Amino acid sequence: MWVLVALPACRSPAPPMDPTRTGTAAAIDLDPDPDTVEISLVAEVAEVPLDGVASEAWAYRDAGGDGPATVPGPLIDVPAGARLVVHLQNDLPESTTLHFHGIRLPNAMDGTDHTQPLVRPGEAFDYDFVVPDPATYWYHPHFETVDQVWKGLYGAVRATAGGPRVDADRVIVLSDISVDVDGRRVQEVAPEERVEGRHGDVVLVDGEPAPRSISAGRTERWRIVNASTARFLTLALADRPLDVIGTDAGPVAEPWTADQVRIGPGDRLELFVDLEDGETVELLTLPTDRADAVPIGETVQLVSAVGSGGRADGDGQGPIEPLPVPEAPAGAPVRTVTLASGVAPNGDALYTIDGIPWPFETPYDVPLDATEIWDVRNDTDADQSFHLHGFFFRVLDIDGLAPEHATLEDTAEIPRRGSARLLTTFDEPGAWMFHTHVLDHAELGMMSHVNVR
Ligand code: C2O
Ligand code: CU
Repeated sequence: MWVLVALPACRSPAPPMDPTRTGTAAAIDLDPDPDTVEISLVAEVAEVPLDGVASEAWAYRDAGGDGPATVPGPLIDVPAGARLVVHLQNDLPESTTLHFHGIRLPNAMDGTDHTQPLVRPGEAFDYDFVVPDPATYWYHPHFETVDQVWKGLYGAVRATAGGPRVDADRVIVLSDISVDVDGRRVQEVAPEERVEGRHGDVVLVDGEPAPRSISAGRTERWRIVNASTARFLTLALADRPLDVIGTDAGPVAEPWTADQVRIGPGDRLELFVDLEDGETVELLTLPTDRADAVPIGETVQLVSAVGSGGRADGDGQGPIEPLPVPEAPAGAPVRTVTLASGVAPNGDALYTIDGIPWPFETPYDVPLDATEIWDVRNDTDADQSFHLHGFFFRVLDIDGLAPEHATLEDTAEIPRRGSARLLTTFDEPGAWMFHTHVLDHAELGMMSHVNVR
């Protein structure tokens, strides 16, 4: 027989509400099986408030719940190792796809126009794959990518499994936007803005103008996603170094501290933050030099967190086994990948890989399971945020210098007029795209793909 038991008196009181203003509530899991997360997203044109002003965005709505579409889209929360099913319904006036940035998945689920038919207006597509690695990822369209992301189509994926015990495991999605005098989103972008990569004049934290206030637990993990179309961020805390605990591929074997860390568009960073009761921690982005022709901007306060002393909304997670970071095998083939800019016959700016703009690229051919070193050279006047689909790579060196910490990434900065060498094992067959995540440059041609077979 059932007995009702009062909650034990020692149960800590509900934590103060996290003043999240929008965006990152998790999509509802429609499948009761704990090993499957099934969610249903609708991409639609919606009035989404921005600082209290209703304004048109392109946004994802969780069809499993009854809330409105949000920017960023619903958080996809999935235990690592679980199956993730995402039903996408396209109610936009334009075709779209859904790409899961960073997740190692079968090629047919990669969400690009090389791997599936475009999801046309009124159509639907089901994504269905296992999320193998615990890390912070994000999702976005891979068709008319820069404009669709700019209009609001992006969201975070949190794949959990261990990591340091924390009171709150928090996702923080950073992006930017331009607004008109009435505070409404500006969706049109002039051709000149595309040449250097558009910058919004307002930095957004979880879809609202920075800064965001957080009532924090004693210990927190912050999973930071740079979903900007072009903005590089120089992250720092106001009065102490950053505790870096994870990168694109999830937790690192040995956390480290740094005064500041740059993350380019598409990149992610995981931080550990601890706060005494009443203590304030401020997350900033500092002035950032990303291109000869782009002003460095000012310091922007992103997050102001006040310690509440008690536990916040998360559960402790326990130890985790980070992915091993490989050494370069002797004699690994080296492939030169050249990023450059140019001018089209009609005078328009274009960007290229190996001298050719997408979609006219000549794909690379790599045998299945081959390990290669890509020597990525950036001949442009702008730093590029280089992204490879489907695999993690190790950054061996940047301008000839090994980075201080060996990590696995799917997105890494290639300095202007410089280079970086990336080590990758291509252990999943298919057509995998790679491109700069300065999305205007990608759309203007700095994009290609590799056929693994
Ligand atoms: Cu974030 Cu080709 O993507
Ligand atoms: Cu990607």
